Amino acid sequence: MTFNSVPLAELAPAKINLALHVTGRRADGYHLLESLVVFAELGDRITVAASAEDSFLVVGPFAGDVPLDSGNLVLRARDALRSAFPESTTQPVSIALEKKLPVASGIGGGSSDAAATMRALKRLWRIPTDVAALGRLALPLGADLPMCLAGHPLVARGIGEELDPVSHFPALPMVLVNPGIAVETPKVFRALASRDNSALAPLDSADTVLDWLAMSRNDLEPAAISIEPSIAEVLAALRGSGAAFARMSGSGATCFGIFDSATAAARAAATIANEHAKWFSAATTTRT
Ligand code: C5P
Repeated sequence: MTFNSVPLAELAPAKINLALHVTGRRADGYHLLESLVVFAELGDRITVAASAEDSFLVVGPFAGDVPLDSGNLVLRARDALRSAFPESTTQPVSIALEKKLPVASGIGGGSSDAAATMRALKRLWRIPTDVAALGRLALPLGADLPMCLAGHPLVARGIGEELDPVSHFPALPMVLVNPGIAVETPKVFRALASRDNSALAPLDSADTVLDWLAMSRNDLEPAAISIEPSIAEVLAALRGSGAAFARMSGSGATCFGIFDSATAAARAAATIANEHAKWFSAATTTRT
């Protein structure tokens, strides 16, 4: 057996829930969701290489917030592949994670890193499997893993594992802003006032993305603001800097603003970063 010897890199894009409706709850406590999800050009970066022994290195602006032990989703993704494909995965690997996005912040974080790790290791180890099978293998690691493996615009249902691709979705100039405070997802779900809310409207029920977004919600947003009021300040800052639309992603605290142009987004990201030294603020575009 021969292995790739050059390092392989994969982007772990930020995941943005443009809309997130909580429509029920399963007997095991997990919530039923309907979410329109897109991915950004901005993300963390995973690099893998064949090596004499296994290793894991984290660098980048948010490296200090990442656990290095076996609880890390990157290592759990590696180990899940080893369990499922013992014959293809014997070669030790070095894995490097460049952590450019804030952790525990509603934009995929660990799930997107784990999905990128699976994509990279599938290439390195030449594992004979497809994205759908990897998604089933990855779901126990986190409900967002299958959508992060898909990595294109989609509607997610169930607890996040039923995926419908959305074709011809436009690239949206966007600013991501996080107030520098991690919000725990289970706490946000526990703070929900209602768990039985209406489904997403069909995507073709509005003429433009912005019109459709105006009819949709993130049901986790009021719950997250009740825990972390600075999320409301982030939304106000995005709207005050010219966003055509602003909403929280996932269980927060990161919020996104949609802008008319990449230039307007870049200007707004710089203004917000200037006015709020402790916040993370970055312009990007969504992937089509
Ligand atoms: O699956 P993941 O580890 O991302 O979920 C973190 C926590 O968020 C779960 O333990 C659960 O409390 C909550 N959750 C939920 N319903 C979902 C996804 C997550 O209640 N669909």
